[in-house]
Amino acid sequence: TWDMRSAEIGYTLSAKHWGKGYATEASQALIEFLFSDPRLTRISASLHPDNVASAMVLERLGFLFEGHTRLSFWVGTDNSDDWLYGMTRADWRSWKARPRHKPAAIQLLAVDHMNMRDVAALRTHKSQEQFVAPVLMSFANALFPEPDDGGPVEPWLRAVQADGELVGFVMLAARTDHQPEPYLWRMLIDRMHQRRGIGSTVLDQVVDECKRMGAGSLMVSWGEGRGSPGPFYLSHGFQPTGEMNGSEAVARFLF
Ligand SMILES: CC(C)(COP(=O)(O)OP(=O)(O)OC[C@H]1O[C@@H](n2cnc3c(N)ncnc32)[C@H](O)[C@@H]1OP(=O)(O)O)[C@@H](O)C(=O)NCCC(=O)NCCS
Repeated sequence: TWDMRSAEIGYTLSAKHWGKGYATEASQALIEFLFSDPRLTRISASLHPDNVASAMVLERLGFLFEGHTRLSFWVGTDNSDDWLYGMTRADWRSWKARPRHKPAAIQLLAVDHMNMRDVAALRTHKSQEQFVAPVLMSFANALFPEPDDGGPVEPWLRAVQADGELVGFVMLAARTDHQPEPYLWRMLIDRMHQRRGIGSTVLDQVVDECKRMGAGSLMVSWGEGRGSPGPFYLSHGFQPTGEMNGSEAVARFLF
């Protein structure tokens, strides 16, 4: 745009070259080039909300979801919704400077009146929101749990701290007399801290907690689709039971 204050990027790849990381690599090079001009303050990009693969490219590059506009994009004779992403120079710097290493210490902390706002501010990538409820909704669910087969549900919720920084949230439906198998109800790692091995360590710690509750297994369920946490749970030993919880595949981890 005018005087290089902002720029918009877009990419199209021939289908036979999808899935090889080319869009990410090419956009990465373009972003570096654009921000090398000190006048540039932000880069924008937009996409169709069904184009999850493209959303994941932008998210991997450090773009933030900024909005959903309705029926604003014309394709042929039809118009569709649009997802808007943006990255300011500050976003770009903090994304590049985010910690990537495995933390030295990961702790599960009680959620209380002191930290609950910070816990509620944790965010996954936009494309992952279909797989996990926002933390505030989890707080509401913990306050008003839906009875399980008519029996009480006991929420057990913790904030995840890595090297002193708040990075995630986890919530169990704890073992009760009515429900002997705990259920991993919610788990999320903030977008800035994913793929550091934190989720794996949290699972180990949650399993330890389940053992303390006297349980011998842990249940979970997940939605399928691009970016699903399914492969994460499968690689940690969860076995699908073949049952469905609504549209979610149910799995069990025996210990
Ligand atoms: C799923 C989630 C909790 C994993 O946390 P994490 O800290 O990023 O996971 P880890 O770094 O411990 O991952 C360890 C391994 O699990 C696998 N893995 C993790 N996330 C994955 C994903 N989304 N898709 C496929 N594999 C994944 C990878 O093999 C990874 O190892 P690698 O990074 O060396 O390839 C995190 O991605 C998240 O919060 N996702 C959005 C919310 C969500 O889906 N929650 C689950 C609701 S049921």
